[in-house]
Amino acid sequence: MSSSTVITNIAALVTNDPSLGDGSPLGLVRDAAVVIEGDRVAWTGESSKAPATDNRVDAGGRAVLPGFVDSHSHLLFGGDRTEEFNARMSGRPYSAGGIRTTVAATRAATDAELEAGLTRYLAEALRQGTTTFETKSGYGLTTADESRALRVAARHTDEVTFLGAHIVAPELADDPAAYVALVTGEMLDACAPHARWIDVFCEKGAFDGDQARAILTAGKAKGLHPRIHANQLSYGPGVQLAVELDAASADHCTHLTDADVDALANSRTVATLLPGAEFSTRAQWPDARRLLDAGATVALSTDCNPGSSFTSSVPFCIALAVRDMGMTPDEAVWSATAGGAAALRRDDIGRLTPGAYADLAVLDAPSHVHLAYRPGVPLVREVWRRGVRAV
Ligand code: NIG
Ligand code: FE
Repeated sequence: MSSSTVITNIAALVTNDPSLGDGSPLGLVRDAAVVIEGDRVAWTGESSKAPATDNRVDAGGRAVLPGFVDSHSHLLFGGDRTEEFNARMSGRPYSAGGIRTTVAATRAATDAELEAGLTRYLAEALRQGTTTFETKSGYGLTTADESRALRVAARHTDEVTFLGAHIVAPELADDPAAYVALVTGEMLDACAPHARWIDVFCEKGAFDGDQARAILTAGKAKGLHPRIHANQLSYGPGVQLAVELDAASADHCTHLTDADVDALANSRTVATLLPGAEFSTRAQWPDARRLLDAGATVALSTDCNPGSSFTSSVPFCIALAVRDMGMTPDEAVWSATAGGAAALRRDDIGRLTPGAYADLAVLDAPSHVHLAYRPGVPLVREVWRRGVRAV
């Protein structure tokens, strides 16, 4: 039998189980302990009631929360877009077209270079408390380049997304129908074995609603489950399509009609908000308050990518969401943990209750609220992943 460890003397423990502690969605337990057996949580509750264990770790009166679930990133890429960012901060608007710069650099990169980039950003994210991440292809746009990106990604996470439909490949720019045929045919056949999800950038300059429906439907037929880049730069059909296809998540959700908000609230499709993108493109913030008040499930993620949001920091996104998107600190922490898990249709992560993976972050702070209260401060002191101290 594997040995058991108690992490005790936790001032405030976020469990995300409303039946525990203060009864809020965060299930906040004061003076708490977590017992880990193997890679799973075996027990959580008040430290005075903790069962006996083989090992004991003293959290020193700090806060503990589930590791962040970053359910949206694009980490397989070559090159960088510093100059585009610089120009944007001098007034040039963001458009989907910038993706082409990264496509050229990604095609020119070796497998080893792609993997070295991925592992670097993953290590960066882990140090900031992220214990699960999703990542996508989408900067290759040929059968060979998309499938190799997915193969590299699958060596590092189970949450791999095929995004052949990021933009129309530059060499087929004059024949988008031919590119859709490639993405739904040969490219899908080569990519489906290496992915769990299929995604489409449904936006002006990328794919319209009919093209997105055809691509996601073809993916479903090959056993991939949909998620959509929806309503990021403008109003459009993406959110309604996500709900129609029972997508796990509609991502961005920056420009929403009342009907879009209603559709999300009356579905199990999660609205994943990505404030790093609005920050880095100086765009209007998504209205988290409106979605929450309507009853939608909201996730918060980084969208880490070299074009629109080059941050791997979930704490930074939490701070933005609280300051500018109408979320309370409790809501933002829930969305970055349990919300991310919902956006990946997972119930074994994003919570600290018996049976869940022992993925957690210890903050150098007495409360999870400090993630928003102390923006930009590296508060994550320890990270445990699958029951093992990783940071
Ligand atoms: O999520 N929206 C589409 N894709 C990325 C941006 C990609 C890029 O600019 O390289 C996003 O923001
Ligand atoms: Fe994205």
